[in-house]
Amino acid sequence: MKDLESIKGSRVYGRRQGKPLKKTSRERLEKYFPKYSITLEGDKLNLSNLFDHAPVEYWLEIGFGKGEHLIEQAKANPDVGFIGCEPFLNGVSGLIDHIDREGVTNIRFFMDDARLLMDALPDHSISRAFILFPDPWRKKRHYKRRVVSPGNLNVLSRILKGNSQLRIGTDHHDYCRWILARLMENEDFIWQVDTPDDWHTRPDDWPATRYELKALEAGRLSAYMTFLRKQQLN
Ligand SMILES: C[S@@+](CC[C@H](N)C(=O)[O-])C[C@H]1O[C@@H](n2cnc3c(N)ncnc32)[C@H](O)[C@@H]1O
Repeated sequence: MKDLESIKGSRVYGRRQGKPLKKTSRERLEKYFPKYSITLEGDKLNLSNLFDHAPVEYWLEIGFGKGEHLIEQAKANPDVGFIGCEPFLNGVSGLIDHIDREGVTNIRFFMDDARLLMDALPDHSISRAFILFPDPWRKKRHYKRRVVSPGNLNVLSRILKGNSQLRIGTDHHDYCRWILARLMENEDFIWQVDTPDDWHTRPDDWPATRYELKALEAGRLSAYMTFLRKQQLN
């Protein structure tokens, strides 16, 4: 399993580990990590070797937390290969607990900074991407830590297929405005919205996440935004 010390140098802000893991979770981690975790060796990740059966397409979730959304999507779309990215050890352990309980085989995960993974993904290889309730980094001097950034959107534009969806959820008003502004200034994306209901109501095929439910309990409503990666001309 990857040594936590060896990944400290990457661009992850926030915690890498929380409470010590329970014995069963530690055992599950030891069991699943070697087969289900993604390691980057060359410049580009070879997707064809990742899953036992070639998936019809690949979907990516950045910052999956404890994996509630990822596991539900994987169960609902068994022909899709899911790639999750989460640097927080307890999050990865939470996902593995779900994988073990539900017997899901179409998920692989990368336990580090999403940017390292995205840089290794081939051009136009991803058919749908999710960034759900990313850390808002409220202070102005921390805005550069935000996962939704001009640089990361350029990389997402490179790896997403034409006409594919990028879904972003947030309960934070200021970050929501920031997200819309960053997406509007990127010419490769179009916001798919007709009525206010389109982004104030979670679509049926968008399972709830832990942070969304926390926000709801605290009385905060969320925005559910879907952007389309425009069809590329070449
Ligand atoms: C506020 S939590 C939301 C978790 C989950 N998506 C949800 O909605 O319940 C943000 C998540 O993004 C992860 N994260 C932060 N920086 C990241 C990065 N550079 N790459 C990938 N994930 C990151 C955090 O570890 C955390 O689990």
